[in-house]
Amino acid sequence: MAYSEQVIDHYENPRNVGKMNDSDENVGTGMVGAPACGDVMRLQIKVSDEGIIEDAKFKTYGCGSAIASSSLVTEWVKGMSLDEAQDLKNTKIAEELALPPVKIHCSVLAEDAIKAAVADYKEKQTKK
Ligand code: FES
Ligand code: FES
Repeated sequence: MAYSEQVIDHYENPRNVGKMNDSDENVGTGMVGAPACGDVMRLQIKVSDEGIIEDAKFKTYGCGSAIASSSLVTEWVKGMSLDEAQDLKNTKIAEELALPPVKIHCSVLAEDAIKAAVADYKEKQTKK
């Protein structure tokens, strides 16, 4: 199976790899695993007081498509509101990266990770 140019680009030059301080109350962390293959993705967002995602970081222990999907999502969510980020669909990711059918679950992982990060951030706000 050949990877698309977009996947190879993100795989070779991943954007926003890293880790944020999870004890920061403006940071939301999503950590999800793919049942299909056991790959794991951590995606973190930093949210402004106005509810806008200012920064995003990821670390993915997984295949090239999972790394590319998470890299792409960190780029896309910067500047988004929480609602916009929560509405991000894996089909958009798969389309942008031209993922073949066997790699669709890699983009689902990225959708799940951003949703989990938003949920974690919201949960933190209720405990303030
Ligand atoms: Fe091996 Fe995803 S199945 S890296
Ligand atoms: Fe499982 Fe890509 S996340 S093969």
